[in-house]
Amino acid sequence: MQKSKILITGGAGFIGSHVADLLINEGHEVIVVDDFSSGREANLHEKTKCYKLDIRDAGLERVFQDEKPHYVIHNAAQIDVRRSLADPIYDAGVNILGTINLLQSCVTHKVKKVVLASSGGAIYGEQEFFPAPETHPFHPISPYGIAKLTAEHYLFYFRAVHGLDYAALRYANVYGPRQDPFGEAGVVAIFASRMLNGEKTLINGSGEQTRDFIYVEDVAKANIMALEADSNEKVFNIGTGKETSINRLFDIMKSIINPSITAEHGPAKAGEQLRSVLECARAKEVLHWSSRVSLEEGLRKTIDYFRSVNL
Ligand SMILES: NC(=O)c1ccc[n+]([C@@H]2O[C@H](COP(=O)([O-])OP(=O)(O)OC[C@H]3O[C@@H](n4cnc5c(N)ncnc54)[C@H](O)[C@@H]3O)[C@@H](O)[C@H]2O)c1
Repeated sequence: MQKSKILITGGAGFIGSHVADLLINEGHEVIVVDDFSSGREANLHEKTKCYKLDIRDAGLERVFQDEKPHYVIHNAAQIDVRRSLADPIYDAGVNILGTINLLQSCVTHKVKKVVLASSGGAIYGEQEFFPAPETHPFHPISPYGIAKLTAEHYLFYFRAVHGLDYAALRYANVYGPRQDPFGEAGVVAIFASRMLNGEKTLINGSGEQTRDFIYVEDVAKANIMALEADSNEKVFNIGTGKETSINRLFDIMKSIINPSITAEHGPAKAGEQLRSVLECARAKEVLHWSSRVSLEEGLRKTIDYFRSVNL
């Protein structure tokens, strides 16, 4: 890809900052828009130019006027599923209206392509079959999932009517360095921080619920490949296709940190999905992307990071 100017919303957050690092290392210019509601200054590469701004703000248009980005990677979101249940209006404000505000500026300023951070787990809901391909029926069971699906519909509309090209990347469970260990989401970060600090590690329910864990650097690469791709396919699952139970995850992590750690099982969380795993053949065929980092290796890197930052 030619050296380009790329605007990343949510670029001070976990995934967005890894995408920014990769783009900068490949010689691109990166502009970040982030309101720092969960993002952190420390995550920003020294070569990023950052605007502290809410994506719902009318001032976003000014950033586009001044910067004229060629591409946009849209990561900024209200990411907490439980908060979306408690306050669906806030969730829809950021995740739907904020997205529309962004896409309107993309059209006005003739952005070449937008990449959306969507969510496989939240959109497919409790799966009918395993692993779920992109054609799996949609059963979102949270306002967060509904908002991600709605954002995809808006992308479809903006392309059909205004010619704005896009890719929607439906992530599995992303983990890695810089993930927030204090939120509700991000079981790897939560376990790592608690296990390293000698605190009690709580597994919700039986621990036999499964997820598809994908390392953040693999996800960052998928973003670059999606920017470069010229294809009629616009929607891609981004995961490993491997199902791992929370008990298994705990066992691998404790074997790395301290084999004598034990877990406590609490009550199952109401409404928590039982199994989630994505089929990623389309990304392989069209984007020439597939996950490279094994779960063991990714967990080691993540644990090393949490050790080094001493959270
Ligand atoms: N982490 C996962 O497993 C996962 C899975 C599927 C999809 N996603 C999506 O990937 C994206 C990035 O998630 P993440 O895990 O890096 O979370 P994160 O909270 O670290 O990143 C989100 C970033 O967006 C910023 N932000 C939030 N609201 C904003 C607003 N109104 N205006 C401007 N900036 C705002 C935050 O400050 C933060 O820097 C999100 O869109 C999320 O829904 C994440």
